[in-house]
Amino acid sequence: MDKFRITGGRALSGRVSISGAKNSALPCMAAALLSAETVTLHNLPYVRDIITQRRLLEDLGATVLTPELRTHKISASHIELFEAPYELVRTMRASVLVLGPLLSRFGKAKVSLPGGCAIGTRPIDLHLVAFEKLGAEVKLEGGNVIARAPNGGRLVGGEIQFDKVTVTGTENVMMAATLARGVTVLQNAACEPEITDLAELLNKMGARVRGAGTSRIEIEGVEELGSAQHTIIPDRIETGTFIAAAAITQGDLEIKDCQPLHLAAVIDKFRQVGVSIEEINPSTLRVSCPKKLTAKDVTTQPHPQFPTDMQAQYMALMTQAEGKAVIEETVFENRFMHASELQRMGARISIDGRHASVTGPTPLTGAPLIASDLRASASLVLAGLVAKGETIIDRVYHIDRGYEKIEAKLRNVGADIERIRESVTASLPHVPQPGMAAEV
Ligand code: EPU
Repeated sequence: MDKFRITGGRALSGRVSISGAKNSALPCMAAALLSAETVTLHNLPYVRDIITQRRLLEDLGATVLTPELRTHKISASHIELFEAPYELVRTMRASVLVLGPLLSRFGKAKVSLPGGCAIGTRPIDLHLVAFEKLGAEVKLEGGNVIARAPNGGRLVGGEIQFDKVTVTGTENVMMAATLARGVTVLQNAACEPEITDLAELLNKMGARVRGAGTSRIEIEGVEELGSAQHTIIPDRIETGTFIAAAAITQGDLEIKDCQPLHLAAVIDKFRQVGVSIEEINPSTLRVSCPKKLTAKDVTTQPHPQFPTDMQAQYMALMTQAEGKAVIEETVFENRFMHASELQRMGARISIDGRHASVTGPTPLTGAPLIASDLRASASLVLAGLVAKGETIIDRVYHIDRGYEKIEAKLRNVGADIERIRESVTASLPHVPQPGMAAEV
């Protein structure tokens, strides 16, 4: 397994470009299963999860051509398998996103039920209840979800009230409803920019989706979907992570190819703690840190509030802020795994259930660390950038799942970071070892 070696203490300076959003690319790739015609996606990030999703689509029978590194032409004209097996689902939970499209277009799907993972139990019960509301028969058998449309035919539109806001749940059901008979209304739908991006793609394919980006989405089913070209939105979490990197190193970064409107709550919070963020143009931010940081509390919540996917990075930043910050995690029940690693570097953090109190500023010292999930890894990298001495982060396959070449991007702006390749197999897709937590 690869590691990162970081020697902290350098202020970052220069320009960094943001990649396409992984969490938008994954559902958009799954959406290609809804059509027999080619769907072309541009600006896909070059990260492990996209490679895994591609493999899943190919296993199902789709052909995926890559005329350029970040462009996939996906043709699902000859789907032969209607199943996402355990080996893949346990490597990447987002593989459950094929359930909605397969069920909707072919009237059947079998997907291994993802277990708990490093950040929480993460059931998919809300997806399944919604499919039942659309007329599907859903059974659990041998650890798999087996879903069938009524009489093996079409789903039927209906009214769905999500008990809790769920991002992939909203995406899965929105995709399923595009080919259902009649109208589907999703209430308490997720409002994340990734939902809007997916809806845009679906509409380009000929779907009739209205209201995406609000908590009420209406989908009028159509007979079939066609081809489309779509460019994936910039990754708002990668953007936020680089803002945190500029701030924690007291650096000065120009962050380009981003969409600041998608992370308004993050920008607002960073400004409150003393980070200077200037919008040079609609897709470029200039971030610097002219004064001392002041600790501020934060609560993670669904969009448009502060995202859970920025909580770990914010915690790293708060170790360098004056005062005490209380961080409340309301989305996932076990998303403070990075705290104990940060403590080993000297951070003063106490955890009480869903609250973490960080008291700063604390000088951090480099240490050997273990990454536990994607965003936790990012927070350890941030801490390593400001720590005195050398930090070695193990299991960086987590970060490779969602950050495109993070070490190269950081090195380009002055960080002292390198990848230590452990073995030849390091470059092959990661296979979880027995006893290791399943993936996020
Ligand atoms: N939940 C249920 N039942 C369900 C679905 C969700 O109880 O059927 C609960 C979850 O356990 C969690 C909460 O609802 O407590 C929200 O979960 P959600 O379904 O919104 O999460 P997700 O769709 O599985 C996506 C992102 C995550 C991100 C969350 C929250 C993708 C592929 N993943 O997960 O991204 O943290 O939304 O914004 O879009 C990451 O990129 O590092 C990552 C974990």
